[in-house]
Amino acid sequence: MPAELVCFEPSCRTRFTVTEVIYNCPKCGSLLEATYPDWKLDVEAVKSLWRARRICNSPLDQSGVWRYREIIPFLENFDAVVSLREGNTPLLAGAKAAQYGGLDRLVFKHQGFNPTGSFKDNGMTCGVAQARRLGMRRVACVSTGNTSASMAAYASAAGLEPLIFIPHGNISYGKLAQALEYGARTFQVEANFDQILALVRVLAERLGIYLLNSINPFRIEGQKTIIVEMLDQRDWTVPDWIVLPGGNLGNTSAFGKALRELKQLGFISKMPKLAVIQAAGAAPFYELFHASRRDRLDPVGHPETLATAIKIGDPVSWPKALKEVSETHGVVEKVSEQEIADAKAVIGKCGIGCEPASAATLAGIRKLTAAGTMRRDADVVAVLTGNLLKDPDYIYRYHTGQLESPDGARIHPTFGNQPIVVPNDTEKIAALL
Ligand code: F0G
Repeated sequence: MPAELVCFEPSCRTRFTVTEVIYNCPKCGSLLEATYPDWKLDVEAVKSLWRARRICNSPLDQSGVWRYREIIPFLENFDAVVSLREGNTPLLAGAKAAQYGGLDRLVFKHQGFNPTGSFKDNGMTCGVAQARRLGMRRVACVSTGNTSASMAAYASAAGLEPLIFIPHGNISYGKLAQALEYGARTFQVEANFDQILALVRVLAERLGIYLLNSINPFRIEGQKTIIVEMLDQRDWTVPDWIVLPGGNLGNTSAFGKALRELKQLGFISKMPKLAVIQAAGAAPFYELFHASRRDRLDPVGHPETLATAIKIGDPVSWPKALKEVSETHGVVEKVSEQEIADAKAVIGKCGIGCEPASAATLAGIRKLTAAGTMRRDADVVAVLTGNLLKDPDYIYRYHTGQLESPDGARIHPTFGNQPIVVPNDTEKIAALL
């Protein structure tokens, strides 16, 4: 299966070989995507093959990304692949969350069960494989934390040198700790995510470092498998809605591409709607989606949210995301800091838990059902993008009534759960119980 890189801009569509080290179209500057000319699959045979691989012991089949390798056929062989058993993330029903969100039922696809605790691992195993195939020695990314944690792990496991650039003071300690422990050279830059991305692109070009941000089309290929695995787990029953948080919009692009390709290849016959949820203080895609003209995204100069994973004002993948959300007849919603914090606590009370950005999904669902956009009896899958332990500081502050939104407003601990300090005294504790 010969793969190609194709310019995403409909008026350009210039094609490049898959081994060129490019991230944007050299002709027009637009985003690139991997495509597979004359792509056909025997759908029923491939579905059975994917199911059978679940009980195989080879690392490639144990991976919840490479098990689905027929849907991401950009490599000629798998010599360059390093797997940490990514993917294989569960579908978890959350009854309390459904009720809170105004739904009869709600299922979470929990990407926090990945080896480094976020959905980035699905894409990173592919990005790092491509880096090795190209013979690159050093890889780099700017990150709000999860990409860097994931890249550090995969690059180190693959024998590459990981270089990480993060906004100083603006990522959670859990994520920074991962980057350090996985052995990445970590630069805390005094700038925001969008500014650092521009800087890293220049450095990557000048020093021949392979860039592993989500503009990298091979990362997008890997993230497609989140959708494929979810549909496989549901025996290919397509939900009405897939809800996800939006930051740099790589994941929205990946989900849309997966759904488009699965429909084109005959795996599914209808499309679910995509609902992308942004934090109100970092919602340029929401504004674009609701604007009368959608030809240009107005960046948010100073994005603000405690959900630091999605604190991005100038998302690079907006043209792809806009096309994908529109094609599914989906929606874009925004939610406040209070709404994110409360939704997160409700997901926690289900025994599931997630990091703040992920909880934007449930907060968004609650708004969409209240507005009548999403029906109470709809079949909804919300994607939890990161693990609860990524940001424990936020959790402690919420439950003890100390959490403040970036504008200084106190967040009310609606579902607060204070730890109780007690003396070492059986009677006194028994009395409290
Ligand atoms: N949720 C979490 C937990 C994330 O870490 C991110 C992105 C998103 C949602 C948004 O995904 O960018 O594809 O729209 N984190 C990136 C990072 C930006 O650097 O780790 P997106």
